[in-house]
Amino acid sequence: MTRIFSGIQPSGIPTLGNYLGALRNWAKLQDGNECIYCVVDLHAITQFQDPATLTQQSREMAATLLAIGIDPVRHTLFLQSQVRAHAQLAWIFNCVARLGWLNRMTQFKDKAGKDRENASVGLYAYPNLMAADIHAYHATHVPVGDDQRQHLELANDIAQKFNHDFGVEFFPTIQPLIMGPAARVMSLRDGTKKMSKSDPSDQSRINLNDDADTIALKVRRAKTDPEPLPSEAAGLAERPEARNLVGIYAALTDTDHQGVLSEHGGQGFGPFKQALADLLVEKLAPIADETRRLLADPAGVDAILRDGAARAAAVADPIVAEAERLVGFLRA
Ligand code: TYM
Repeated sequence: MTRIFSGIQPSGIPTLGNYLGALRNWAKLQDGNECIYCVVDLHAITQFQDPATLTQQSREMAATLLAIGIDPVRHTLFLQSQVRAHAQLAWIFNCVARLGWLNRMTQFKDKAGKDRENASVGLYAYPNLMAADIHAYHATHVPVGDDQRQHLELANDIAQKFNHDFGVEFFPTIQPLIMGPAARVMSLRDGTKKMSKSDPSDQSRINLNDDADTIALKVRRAKTDPEPLPSEAAGLAERPEARNLVGIYAALTDTDHQGVLSEHGGQGFGPFKQALADLLVEKLAPIADETRRLLADPAGVDAILRDGAARAAAVADPIVAEAERLVGFLRA
């Protein structure tokens, strides 16, 4: 059985980008694999989070994952801060990774922006923690959206250097699973920018808890160009906004760009946006309803996370203890 690991930050309400790029695939991969899914609150605090909001958003994120069908009995769902192994291994990886490697991380440059001097050290070292998340479980496959590709390459570089430095074959190579026509969902306001839960404009994204009217309005207002949809996928090449909406439609109907255009090619954006909004409401409303139902019992969600953390620690603790032994830490 393949061991899968992935994580999501509780730094806002999950978006359609999170759902199509990652979460939906997390749910699908549960058949036939061993899956470990983590709400990564240690990552979230690399940018300041109001404490009460962080607590609430962590619980809400866990409830959303349950609502999309993550099974906390057959698989493991937990909160990163409840398993010490992540921070312990991350420190070792801080000492394995090279500054030059981290200097190349494009996401740090995007997130730190112009005020780089004022970014937290945690934000800079974030990819090392992410590598620790995965390697603490000896996971081999990691389902993510396209924006995480570079971080996973770094995770492999760190594993390789650790193995080389200590003369072992301890950490396995990991494979990114970047799946489907919506591995990079773009902002509804700007087809060249990623849809993000932390974008200041709420109009730029669909949140998984948006109601039907909000979804319809956001889709209607989504930026497009004046041409009708092309009938061939190649016609989307220079049209990022059109490509984005077609990709979303394709992912939601389990087809590809061409499959959507065979049906909707030649159509103007008016009718296509209407069809897309209907589809989004049909797919997302049950998730929002189920999330709300689960959150009516916060203690129930917390208990699931506590159980998940105990099971996660049972896997990660011996692996991280062995890494510590390999490094040469004295153990009684
Ligand atoms: P995060 O919280 O930003 O996003 C969670 C997942 O959603 C994907 N994603 C997208 N996919 C398509 N289109 C988008 N617009 C979009 N926005 C986000 C992300 O690629 C991700 O898969 N560093 C990670 C969390 C993490 C992690 C890990 C992931 C921490 N440790 C270990 C895998 C393994 C992050 O910030 O994801």
